[in-house]
Amino acid sequence: MPAATLSPDLHIVVLAAGKGTRMKSAVPKVLHRAAGLALIDHVVGSAQGLKPSSIVVIVGHQTEQLRTHFARRPDIHLAVQEPQLGTGHALLQAEPFLAGKTGTVLLLSGDVPLLRASTVYALVSHHLSRRAAATVLTATLDRPDGYGRIVREHGSISAIVEHKDASADERAIAEINSGVYAFDLAPLFGALRQIGSLNAQGEYYLPDLVRVFRGQGLPVDTVSLSDPREILGVNSRKELADVSSILRDRKNDELMASGVTIVDPATTWVEADVVVGADTVLHPGVYLEGQTRVGSGCEIHSGVRIIDSTVGDRVVINNFCVVRQSAIESGALVGPFAQLRPASRVAENAHVGNFVELKNTTLGRGSKANHLAYLGDATIGENVNVGAGTITCNYDGVAKYPTVIEDGAFIGSDSQLIAPVRVGRNAYVAAGSSITEDVPPDSLAIARGKQVNKPGWVARAKRKRD
Ligand code: UD1
Ligand code: CA
Repeated sequence: MPAATLSPDLHIVVLAAGKGTRMKSAVPKVLHRAAGLALIDHVVGSAQGLKPSSIVVIVGHQTEQLRTHFARRPDIHLAVQEPQLGTGHALLQAEPFLAGKTGTVLLLSGDVPLLRASTVYALVSHHLSRRAAATVLTATLDRPDGYGRIVREHGSISAIVEHKDASADERAIAEINSGVYAFDLAPLFGALRQIGSLNAQGEYYLPDLVRVFRGQGLPVDTVSLSDPREILGVNSRKELADVSSILRDRKNDELMASGVTIVDPATTWVEADVVVGADTVLHPGVYLEGQTRVGSGCEIHSGVRIIDSTVGDRVVINNFCVVRQSAIESGALVGPFAQLRPASRVAENAHVGNFVELKNTTLGRGSKANHLAYLGDATIGENVNVGAGTITCNYDGVAKYPTVIEDGAFIGSDSQLIAPVRVGRNAYVAAGSSITEDVPPDSLAIARGKQVNKPGWVARAKRKRD
């Protein structure tokens, strides 16, 4: 998108001061998440592509939570609207941030997350090309109830009439105000101050700007949406779910178009930033989240959740695994029922089997931990075999200690490696050992009670009982 050609001075204002009563939530409506992102982050994200020179979010309820949410976004200014006297009054709160500036204001709603970047781009470029004072994004709906209606004279927009204020004739109009606008900043705040609140809701209506600008003889224009679903707002949990499934479908459609097989798109959730290579198969109930990248030719089975992780090519992840902030390299096999906690790395062609947990651990190339193991703070070389039931005892209740297992070593089943400890190259640890000292390369370590057999013991014990 050639954003640079738009305007060097594009200012985004996002309205988010409404209470969101119908969410019945202690969390502000715009912080509820759809497809992994807060509603307001979807909105800001779609405007970000236009490279705005400022972003102001108007807040009014649970303001502290919004401040916390944006704590690491110094580019986003919050303006508090208190009390909330309507959308026109809400925009006025941005004036201190925009006074003395010029350019275009793009006005968005924090609870309308489906708006596409290409739509806002089209709105702003149309607005600039017409040198309009205001350009309204409109849509034509089968059921326009509740929305402001676009009233036209000789084809041009002359006013927006809110549903509650509309006459029967006006209510028959199917073209509605999406609540998204582009404004020329120069006449904006002067005109806003002329808006009154003598209407059905006793509020300062932002859409009344259309009438004010027309009264001043300034040009007002419209751009109409081809897909009216883009302006679906979220007012309830039901609508949150509706919007989430649309976002999910959009991402799944993109992935399928790029060569990913999704067995059941209705249950596969892939967040916006995730990348998946061609010929990878995603089975039902797979969740790919955050900054995850999956290579090509992989098979990700049902119930797998991968967060902020990298998966190479031709990796098979069997059912019910959780992978977080980790890397699985090409050709590896993981699961079922494995957990990779942060900073784990399963190198090329390595195997992690059922009920195996890795934390801050590298499992080297071709190495295997196939069953029932906890491997924490461990560096494991190539072609190592980690037997069933192996535990790295990395924690003494106060501090964590490392375990090193060098290339080619063999750790017998049910062994404890009490860290800090090192098992040398090609060494063997006998099954059932509690290893407390380093094992030199090429040696066998046995650290378990010696077996004693007592012949005839059972019969003797039985006689005593009788
Ligand atoms: C608004 C428009 C209507 C349009 C519809 C599209 C007005 C008066 N009407 O109606 O023409 O068809 O959006 O969805 O603008 N907000 C504040 N402060 C306030 C009031 C609202 O920040 O004092 C915020 C809300 O949080 C919300 C947005 O403004 O994000 C829209 O407000 P809302 O009350 O939902 O307006 P609608 O009645 O839907
Ligand atoms: Ca609304």
